[in-house]
Amino acid sequence: MATRQNWLMRNHKLFEKNTFILLLGILIVVAIGGIIEIVPLFYLKNTIEKVEGMRPYTPLELAGQQIYVREGCHVCHSQMIRPLRDEVERYGHYSLAAESMYDHPFLWGSKRTGPDLARVGGKYSDEWQKQHLIDPRALVPESIMPPYAFLAGRPLDLTMLTGEMSALKTEGVPYSKEMIARAADDARAQAGEDYDVEALRASYDAIAGRKGTVPVRDFDGERGDPSELDALIAYLQMLGTLVDFSTYEAADLSNQR
Ligand code: HEC
Repeated sequence: MATRQNWLMRNHKLFEKNTFILLLGILIVVAIGGIIEIVPLFYLKNTIEKVEGMRPYTPLELAGQQIYVREGCHVCHSQMIRPLRDEVERYGHYSLAAESMYDHPFLWGSKRTGPDLARVGGKYSDEWQKQHLIDPRALVPESIMPPYAFLAGRPLDLTMLTGEMSALKTEGVPYSKEMIARAADDARAQAGEDYDVEALRASYDAIAGRKGTVPVRDFDGERGDPSELDALIAYLQMLGTLVDFSTYEAADLSNQR
């Protein structure tokens, strides 16, 4: 028998017989691990690197995101491509933190019953998205995705946009007063109605720092007031399209040890 046991060995009984002391011990050990992982993030300049091209959602896209959340799409679809080879080969460039910087709540998700949607924008035509949402099995016979046909022709509630954008502004999303005031008109303009498209484009392109970030068209192919389907398709079609990865270079972290 060793006579010189260390302190922990001698006092182990104390931890095993008293849950409170054990809990305290666990908390201390976990806190040390947490501090080592988290504190350096406050000192790294590039924890969230700024990337060109990001802008907040337009009112129509924002309404689409709200419908996406309301319908629980995020329960089956993630929006985060992990930096792993098979994911990058399947979905495209891994997701950057900056790409979710205006998402409140972010929709990274933890479960993939269906594929990741972080870069689904532009992968299919509007018509494909429309048919797929109305009846997934018409396009993908083995699909287990539920149909969302009721979204077609259901008028989009434009009155809630002002409140939602103001709330996001308090979270730090750079919506200006004018952008908030114009919300309903901007949504109509983007969905192809006869409203001021230039004002819409100018304000959102200015934040993105380049032209052409706001596609304007009749997303659901039905004339008249924007429908919930218009908004959802507008949202899906912009996912992952803002950052131009042909010119993007990952920040050099080698000098930040
Ligand atoms: C029960 C789980 C489930 C829910 C809820 C769900 N989906 Fe899906 N989704 C799937 C599955 C499975 C697929 C793959 C088969 C297919 O394409 O239909 C899919 C495919 C897709 C695709 C095609 C992706 C690609 O890259 O091919 C899109 C876009 C999509 N879903 C959007 C949505 C939207 C928007 C909602 C909410 C309105 C939604 N899904 C809700 C399961 C789901």
